[in-house]
Amino acid sequence: MSNFKSNTTGRYPPKMIYSSAEGILFQGDCLALMSQMSPDSIDLVFADPPFNLGKQYNSEAFNDTLETEAYRSWCQTWLLETVRILRPGGSLFLYHWPKWLIEMGHWLNSLPVLEYRSWIAMKMKSGFPIKNRIHPAHYGILYYTKRGDKANFNVVRSRAPVCRHCGKEIRDYGGYRGKFKKFEDEDGIPWIQIADFWEDTRPARQDKSRQLQIVELPLLIPERIILMASNPGDIVLDVFGGGGSTYHAAQMHERRWIGCDIGDVTPILQRLQTAFHLDPSESVDDIFLRCFKPEFIQLELETYMREKRIDKVKDIETLKDVKDSSQEYISKSRVLKS
Ligand SMILES: C[S@@+](CC[C@H](N)C(=O)[O-])C[C@H]1O[C@@H](n2cnc3c(N)ncnc32)[C@H](O)[C@@H]1O
Repeated sequence: MSNFKSNTTGRYPPKMIYSSAEGILFQGDCLALMSQMSPDSIDLVFADPPFNLGKQYNSEAFNDTLETEAYRSWCQTWLLETVRILRPGGSLFLYHWPKWLIEMGHWLNSLPVLEYRSWIAMKMKSGFPIKNRIHPAHYGILYYTKRGDKANFNVVRSRAPVCRHCGKEIRDYGGYRGKFKKFEDEDGIPWIQIADFWEDTRPARQDKSRQLQIVELPLLIPERIILMASNPGDIVLDVFGGGGSTYHAAQMHERRWIGCDIGDVTPILQRLQTAFHLDPSESVDDIFLRCFKPEFIQLELETYMREKRIDKVKDIETLKDVKDSSQEYISKSRVLKS
């Protein structure tokens, strides 16, 4: 069925749902939120938008079957907003599948303010064959920085793979194993610099233990991005929150975060409650104030207090299927001094 309904809607103004020293979460339309944000104020943007594949999300508020042109212009509109909000030297990451990454990359390359850094490909373990097509086996991330200042870049490492049975290293170091000695952990296994092909990730999954239909990326993906292109204290923005993996990774590594989703944000709150315990505040931390138009954030804070939204957050339960969050949500990436 032809559907030219736009995802850009004034019907979902952003409502502040959670405020803490670490992060601030809104429910509403990403464009409506970003229109209230200050230019050059964010250190890192990560975006994992709906892919326009007709997926059934938990929200009636947007449409995942737009006509190609409508989807293209919606993506370009919010991408331009993220570029405006990003500070000079800040980094932009876009997660998508190749069909759209080619197109978005071509278009982003034409924006003089952006510098292309990388295309990161990641293995899609549960890909399935499609008739008369080559088997799709990867997703990708486009990585850009905004010109005008020095960009952050940290070398991120992951633990060298070992044999499941004997625990021995399976990587061939081509005679250079000694070079990795200084990056060995307590078990003598070295941590290796990640490249632009990630074989150890699985794609977004539908978490069956959640009440709502949400798709979430493995923590590893936002974790690597955040470690690579930001430093502790920096502000990370993700306006397509989903299950909250970006906010989780940011908070885990002492970055601040600003989040948003047009659907129910309960899954995000549940995840943060499980991993860290929510710590709602009656104010907006100073560090976030500079990211918003003053009149917007002041009005939102007043409404948040008047409607006692903070009490609802206090009632959020932890995720029942996560027995030991320190094990389930373990960090798998490190930035080590050389
Ligand atoms: C692919 S999911 C993001 C998953 C997330 N990266 C994670 O790991 O949990 C995309 C999300 O974008 C949200 N979304 C769709 N349109 C939106 C809009 N206009 N503004 C804000 N959020 C939107 C959907 O509700 C959905 O939760």
